[in-house]
Amino acid sequence: MIITLDGPAGSGKSTVARKVAARLQIAYLDTGAMYRAVAWKCLQESVDLADHDGIIEIVRESRISLDCGPTHTRVMMDGQDISEAIRSMETNQATSFIAREPAVRRVLVEQQRRLGAELGSLVSEGRDQGSVVFPHADAKFVLDADIEKRAERRFHEMCADGIDLTFEQVLENLRLRDGNDQCQWAPLLEPGQAIIIDTSKLRIDEVVEILLEHVKTACNH
Ligand code: DC
Repeated sequence: MIITLDGPAGSGKSTVARKVAARLQIAYLDTGAMYRAVAWKCLQESVDLADHDGIIEIVRESRISLDCGPTHTRVMMDGQDISEAIRSMETNQATSFIAREPAVRRVLVEQQRRLGAELGSLVSEGRDQGSVVFPHADAKFVLDADIEKRAERRFHEMCADGIDLTFEQVLENLRLRDGNDQCQWAPLLEPGQAIIIDTSKLRIDEVVEILLEHVKTACNH
């Protein structure tokens, strides 16, 4: 069974995807972590984010591995654990640039499909999982929420991770990322192709229950 969960930053999709996967006892795939890992390496190797060839070389030579656990995703790049480093504000920003690079997307989409085939059943979370990576998924969801609410969630997460930023900085960063993410290479599904859930006024556990209900219905058809 393949379930896709797409949506903008701060829509709650990572937490929801993890919980749904745990309830169904299937794998969870955090595809944003793969894009983050490539961006992190570009920053480490001082590759200019406008240097297409440099970025492509990085993605081709990288060995990314993921361990998506019930609370956190551990990310290894060429054998080094970069799980915390990829969550910095600098990496956030760089990721939304490199994710626009078609060659990067091609390589990572290929890796995601391979992982999907190996795992068999999974909840895959990102921006293009239902539209590009797994167009034949059994159930597709898009989570959304208004930008203030998304910024509030991100702000609390970052405070909990000890990242020192103001709410306004987080809000501004989200605005920039929304602009970059809504590009043709990471199309979010349109209404009708997926179940769209506005999470602004819902608790995480309520969203999880709604999704599980839909998955049950999809499985009975
Ligand atoms: O979901 P996230 O915040 O970890 O995603 C990090 C960045 O990667 C964000 O800028 C969107 C991009 N991304 C993407 O373009 N396609 C995906 N499948 C997943 C993430």
